[in-house]
Amino acid sequence: MGLPFLKTKFILAILLTFVSTSISSSLPDANFQIAKPNCENRCGNVPIPFPFGATEGCFYNRSFLVTCNETFSPPKAYVTNSTIEITNISLEGQLRVLSYIAKDCYYQNGTRSLHNAPSIRLTWGLSISTANKFTVVGCDTNGFVAGWRFNNKFYRTGCNSYCGSKGDLAEGMCSGLGCCQTSIPKDVWIAELTLQSYDQFKNVWDFNNCSYSFLAEESAFNFTPSSLSSLRNVTSLPMVVDWAVGDGTCVEAQNNMSSYACKSLNSKCKEPDNGYGYRCYCDEGFRGNPYLDGGCQDIDECLDPNNKCEKGCKNIPGNYTCTCPEGYDGDGLKNGRGCIRGESLIFKLVAGIALGFIVLLLGACWLYLELKRRKLITMKQKFFLQNGGLMLQEQLIRRDYSPDTMKIFTSAELKKATNNFHDDRIIGQGGFGTVYKGFLSDNRIVAIKKSKEVDPNQIEQFINEVIVLSQINHKNVVRLFGCCLETQVPLLVYEFINNGTLFEHINNETKAHALSWDKRLTIATEAAGVLAYLHSAASPPIIHRDVKSANILLDNNFTAKVSDFGASRLVPEDQTRLSTMVQGTFGYLDPEYMQTNQLTEKSDVYSYGVVLVELLTGKKALSYERPEKERNLASYFLSRLNQGRLYQVLEDNIVSEGNNEQLMAVAMLAKRCLYVRGEDRPSMKEVAMELEGLRLSRKHYSLQTQPNAEVMESLLFRPMNGFAKGEGNTVGTGGYDSMRDHIQLPMGGGR
Ligand SMILES: *[C@@H]1O[C@H](CO)[C@@H](O)[C@H](O)[C@H]1NC(C)=O
Ligand SMILES: *[C@@H]1O[C@H](CO)[C@@H](O)[C@H](O)[C@H]1NC(C)=O
Ligand SMILES: *[C@@H]1O[C@H](CO)[C@@H](O)[C@H](O)[C@H]1NC(C)=O
Ligand SMILES: *[C@@H]1O[C@H](CO)[C@@H](O)[C@H](O)[C@H]1NC(C)=O
Ligand SMILES: *[C@@H]1O[C@H](CO)[C@@H](O)[C@H](O)[C@H]1NC(C)=O
Ligand SMILES: *[C@@H]1O[C@H](CO)[C@@H](O)[C@H](O)[C@H]1NC(C)=O
Ligand SMILES: *[C@@H]1O[C@H](CO)[C@@H](O)[C@H](O)[C@H]1NC(C)=O
Ligand SMILES: *[C@@H]1O[C@H](CO)[C@@H](O)[C@H](O)[C@H]1NC(C)=O
Ligand SMILES: *[C@@H]1O[C@H](CO)[C@@H](O)[C@H](O)[C@H]1NC(C)=O
Repeated sequence: MGLPFLKTKFILAILLTFVSTSISSSLPDANFQIAKPNCENRCGNVPIPFPFGATEGCFYNRSFLVTCNETFSPPKAYVTNSTIEITNISLEGQLRVLSYIAKDCYYQNGTRSLHNAPSIRLTWGLSISTANKFTVVGCDTNGFVAGWRFNNKFYRTGCNSYCGSKGDLAEGMCSGLGCCQTSIPKDVWIAELTLQSYDQFKNVWDFNNCSYSFLAEESAFNFTPSSLSSLRNVTSLPMVVDWAVGDGTCVEAQNNMSSYACKSLNSKCKEPDNGYGYRCYCDEGFRGNPYLDGGCQDIDECLDPNNKCEKGCKNIPGNYTCTCPEGYDGDGLKNGRGCIRGESLIFKLVAGIALGFIVLLLGACWLYLELKRRKLITMKQKFFLQNGGLMLQEQLIRRDYSPDTMKIFTSAELKKATNNFHDDRIIGQGGFGTVYKGFLSDNRIVAIKKSKEVDPNQIEQFINEVIVLSQINHKNVVRLFGCCLETQVPLLVYEFINNGTLFEHINNETKAHALSWDKRLTIATEAAGVLAYLHSAASPPIIHRDVKSANILLDNNFTAKVSDFGASRLVPEDQTRLSTMVQGTFGYLDPEYMQTNQLTEKSDVYSYGVVLVELLTGKKALSYERPEKERNLASYFLSRLNQGRLYQVLEDNIVSEGNNEQLMAVAMLAKRCLYVRGEDRPSMKEVAMELEGLRLSRKHYSLQTQPNAEVMESLLFRPMNGFAKGEGNTVGTGGYDSMRDHIQLPMGGGR
């Protein structure tokens, strides 16, 4: 029966122990052990830390006995068997006690009504702190304190306090009027308070009949005039007592570890300013009772919200560290770098490899592009040399090269200008190659001609012509701005003419309608003029080789712009290929040149004749849509002309303009241009002058004005030169007649 009950009790005890230890261990800071095991650690509100103790075996020495009188509520603690009441004990070496006030009071007749003179007698280890002051209150008072310091040294100190009237007293001032104060020496363990009166308060009795003195903390008492009477009811005031252990210094004490009071690890010894012996303190980072074995306990600073760690606070004995958790970088301090999320090792590794790979890839790309670039440069240089770049440069230098007249373009410039030779930019295509529209960086619009292939043997000639052509600044020639020799075939950069070719204007029905005879005549004159100019401008003469309506461009004012001078040289003279053996365009080809392969200015005259016929008839030079006899426009035209049926082939809308004589004259001129023998054909100069004459006379005619005699003379004279060369009466006379007729016409009209 008894056994199970005992067992339950036992288990309960274990449980309770477990709970209590777990509580105390979970709250080590809140109430660490201050007294020896099995010793009372409190007396009422007063803690009793070792070396103090309330019972035998609990104190370090009988001096540290705390007598607890439990008849009071709450119980009161006293120093050993004295009447000195303890209000607090601190392990830093201080006791807070109550000290009694000395009083000396008198009746009005001068006899004492009350007198007490308490003394304080401390035991070994305790001394009165110098934080206390000796204070005397009264208006007829001499107060002093005397006693013993350690080693049997006597001391005495005190002060006199007097005041004549209540008005002398000042609030808060303990300066000799009604109140005086003095310090006490250190190492005092016995103090006796004495009060004396000079006149037994006879002179001040109406407002003061008592003297007071006491040893108390300075802050515990604040003098006011009412203190003179109110202190009478006060028996004690707080006083500080210093305590220390041992007899000698720390070093001496540490010589005998068995008697050394600082029993705890992580504790240190320090000698006090006041008193003898030494005190023990826990090391920084620890707290508890250093006088107990294991009394100093580590402070868990990480529980303190004021610790300096932002993250990763780790408590270590006596201190703590801030370590950033796995995956974080930084010092972990709140006011330091803190913790920043870092990369894991694997991530770093992967990132490193990836970076290396990217660098490698970029390097390879760069190398590839660099090699390609170099190859391109080499190619460009090769083409430049192959295309006669050096020759051209030499020539340009010799001729005082100015970039206005001639520029050697880079292939990059032209690529940019044509959007990398985009198909959108093609404005013309044919046997010769391709023409692109381009926009130069200086806002000029250009036509860039890219030929199909070049005969290397013709390079020198080509360069020469490029230079000559670039220097021609004639309003009826499409200007050559320059060339580019860095490409496989040279690129020629021309002025861009925006109104299309004469061919288009003749063969498009609506456009042809707008192309009046006046315009046609002007175009014919301008084209003839410029051909004549070029035939005479250089030696050997610049021969166009490919005069045709498609090579005469028109601007917005229908000004003729002859293009492609000498450009046909770009086409190799390959003897085996019929199409290229003789240069030019079928329908315009000089029959004599086809036979002899001898190129002269007269070949251009023949081709020009075909253009004249085109202007007259509005028909294509060669068309397989026409019946076989009419296929070649030149022969068809000549046959009709010889049959006297010219008007059948003339363009309808130019016939009606009342200009029959002019049409006839031009037709006759065309006939002469188309003579089979080159010698028989007029020169371009003659053709030009004759047309100019016709044009001027027409102008005069239409304006109904009297022609100027000078003009008349020149008009009459100039065609004569042309006729001198003419062969056959019909032609000569015809030309002459028509000329004369039409010159006379305006005169007649004028009359
Ligand atoms: C306390 O201890 C000291 C030295 O250990 C000794 O001198 C002194 O007499 C002791 N006091 C009492 C009251 O036992
Ligand atoms: C406690 O105090 C009372 C009243 O002052 C006194 O009579 C009594 O003897 C004291 N007891 C002890 C144990 O000192
Ligand atoms: C206290 O006890 C000691 C002896 O232990 C004695 O000498 C002393 O006179 C006592 N003091 C008082 C105030 O009772
Ligand atoms: C006693 O002293 C300690 C420190 O020495 C202090 O924290 C505590 O507040 C004091 N107790 C009283 C009631 O003054
Ligand atoms: C001393 O004076 C106070 C008033 O200040 C008075 O209450 C008290 O009775 C006086 N004492 C004597 C002994 O006359
Ligand atoms: C002084 O007065 C008190 C009471 O007022 C009285 O008891 C005392 O005997 C007187 N002393 C003398 C010397 O008169
Ligand atoms: C002092 O105490 C007595 C009773 O003990 C009381 O009558 C008197 O008013 C008190 N005086 C002061 C100033 O507190
Ligand atoms: C050390 O202290 C113990 C206890 O206080 C004492 O018995 C012993 O004689 C001391 N030894 C020395 C060398 O002072
Ligand atoms: C605790 O550690 C910090 C930083 O390591 C140091 O500055 C400080 O002095 C240490 N405190 C103690 C008590 O060791």
